[in-house]
Amino acid sequence: MEPTGLTESTALTGSVQAMEPTPELRHEIDGLRRELEEHNYRYHVLNQPTISDAEYDRFFRRLQELELAHPELDSPDSPTHRVGAPVQEGFGTLRHRVPMLSLANAFNADELKAWDVRVRKLLGTTGEVTYSVEPKIDGLAISLRFEAGRLIEAATRGDGVTGEDVTSNIRTIKDIPWHLPPYCPENIEVRGEVYIGKDDFRKLNQEREQLGEPNFANPRNAAAGSLRQLDPRITAKRPLGFWAYGAIGLDGITTHYGALEAVGNMGFPVYPEVRLVTGIDAVEALYQRYCETREAMPFEIDGIVIKVNSLADQERLGTVGREPRWAIAYKFPAIQENTRLEDITVHVGRTGTINPVAILTPVNIGGVVVSRATLHNEDEIVRKDLRIGDWVVVQRAGDVIPQVVKAIPEKRTGEERLFQMPTTCPVCGAPAVRLEGEAARYCTNGLQCPAQLVESLRHFASRRAMDIEWLGIKVAEILVEAKLVKDVADLYALTKEQLLALDRFGEKSADNLLEAVEQSKSRSLDRLIFALGIHEVGEVTARLLAKEFRSMECLAAATCEALQAIPSIGPSMSESIVDFFAEEHNQKVLAKLKAAGLAMELAETPDVPPDSPFAGREVVFTGKLETMTRGEAQELVERLGGTAGSAVTRKTSLVVAGADAGSKLDKARKLEIPIMTESEFARWVAEAQG
Ligand code: IVH
Repeated sequence: MEPTGLTESTALTGSVQAMEPTPELRHEIDGLRRELEEHNYRYHVLNQPTISDAEYDRFFRRLQELELAHPELDSPDSPTHRVGAPVQEGFGTLRHRVPMLSLANAFNADELKAWDVRVRKLLGTTGEVTYSVEPKIDGLAISLRFEAGRLIEAATRGDGVTGEDVTSNIRTIKDIPWHLPPYCPENIEVRGEVYIGKDDFRKLNQEREQLGEPNFANPRNAAAGSLRQLDPRITAKRPLGFWAYGAIGLDGITTHYGALEAVGNMGFPVYPEVRLVTGIDAVEALYQRYCETREAMPFEIDGIVIKVNSLADQERLGTVGREPRWAIAYKFPAIQENTRLEDITVHVGRTGTINPVAILTPVNIGGVVVSRATLHNEDEIVRKDLRIGDWVVVQRAGDVIPQVVKAIPEKRTGEERLFQMPTTCPVCGAPAVRLEGEAARYCTNGLQCPAQLVESLRHFASRRAMDIEWLGIKVAEILVEAKLVKDVADLYALTKEQLLALDRFGEKSADNLLEAVEQSKSRSLDRLIFALGIHEVGEVTARLLAKEFRSMECLAAATCEALQAIPSIGPSMSESIVDFFAEEHNQKVLAKLKAAGLAMELAETPDVPPDSPFAGREVVFTGKLETMTRGEAQELVERLGGTAGSAVTRKTSLVVAGADAGSKLDKARKLEIPIMTESEFARWVAEAQG
């Protein structure tokens, strides 16, 4: 789904109390949920956010308000009930023993004071509360589990309940001890933030530039991207650091500050300037100090975190939804700098939207060099009266895409030029039109436009769609430019000779690409539906559609009424779907995909043989298998009613160990999970299959 770009007028206005649950209100709530899901995914999974934290927070709050005012419209699936985004494929998952929570935000002194008043009211005290004040480090949250003094599991926050198993990658971070002193409790969990310092971030981006790789937008994305490497050897080369900010399972500790001291003594890095203060005015004074010193700090922070110090009081205050009542994040205002708007270019997106982009004289904004900023659409340029050559104020809010706040007209020399939005597509030359009521201008050439085609290919091949590993943006551009691919189905007709005729490909890279394309033929129906890039149809909807219609043919024949019978599919989405399948070009592409042998039907779950020893059990493979690939072995388990896990946890029922099995085998022994050899496994399979 392309983010639809909620605007003030559609999403953020209106008195909450007075509203009846009208169709408009339902529509607004649905829209906010879809938008938040999309941005969650972009932020947490892709590490490529497209809106600022502040905008995200506004959407989030609006949805929270609406759901509070209309509990009948609340839903357990709403993003307000989740922490972060779903776990991505590729890593095993780990369930957090205690949920990993998020933090409520305060954006000004009044909101902070209101929080303090509530804390005191709930605690029934007229006196002042003692708070721990610490920096809000801009990295990603990690939980580290130790058993008998040994690091056994590390997980990201994920959706707050289940995270990704990043144990092998975490082990590469030098700040994190693998063993604890002998006096430590048997079971403890330390939580904190993995981050990259500002200098290291700059160096990392320089190295990437030299290698022709895209820059990380900010240190947070760099840290998340580095930790989520499937190959821990890459993680090991990244300069990741860790600050501990909490622990679970410590004995005899009664304060948060005491817990930090204890984990510091165990060998974890704890930020040395954590302060204990009494009363909210002292917190505000500390915040002001941080505002002045944050830029000089060696790592990025986007606010401060204030926590009630007494653990007994924390317990009394408890948690609402995903946020504890005993802590709050007090966010910094965005950092602004002045620079020149050298030019405005336009970028053509997957659905043909033509978006203006500001080209800026590079400027360092709080440790990150910014040279481009989004301008959203032509109205925004007019509203801000931006001219090419202007001095402009640019801001970054600790994250995401920088924004041009305003022009500085006093600095004009008269040389500045007005920007004219092109009325033809800058890539293919087709007319670019703006429909009534829409802010965006669209190229009218659909997939005949190379820019849209490249973006569609990229989406089609992306990890959560058809997952074609070697097909990134560069390869997509080359294939389109060479006219080898005119629609996504042409990918399946590519030959080795065609690829070898292009400069970019050698024997190995051609084989890799063709192999990846071939493998993608067996992706499930829901992934294919998502990969088609139907306007408004994201992954969740694609899954619903596959489940409901069971084949591409039935989906293509569905009417708007049939589609709207599915809860969560509204009029606009159903229209997008019907329009997509009605278009002749799309019908041809689908016919070609079918002819190429792609799965057009929902895979039936095979009948599990009675008495299958794998039924309902999780099996983990480790080491090298001799007679089959790991994928084949996992498929066998699934066909026999089991699940294939990627990490050994207490949930694992069985571990199959091939040659050179490593840490997973150790862990299986430790957890006393049954272990079998490959030949024993093959015998079980043969018996189960009868
Ligand atoms: S405490 C229940 N302390 O902020 C409290 N979080 O918005 C949970 N963060 O997921 C977290 N610095 O990734 C805490 N000193 C700090 C923090 C911190 C950064 C992050 C953390 C968390 C997010 C919540």
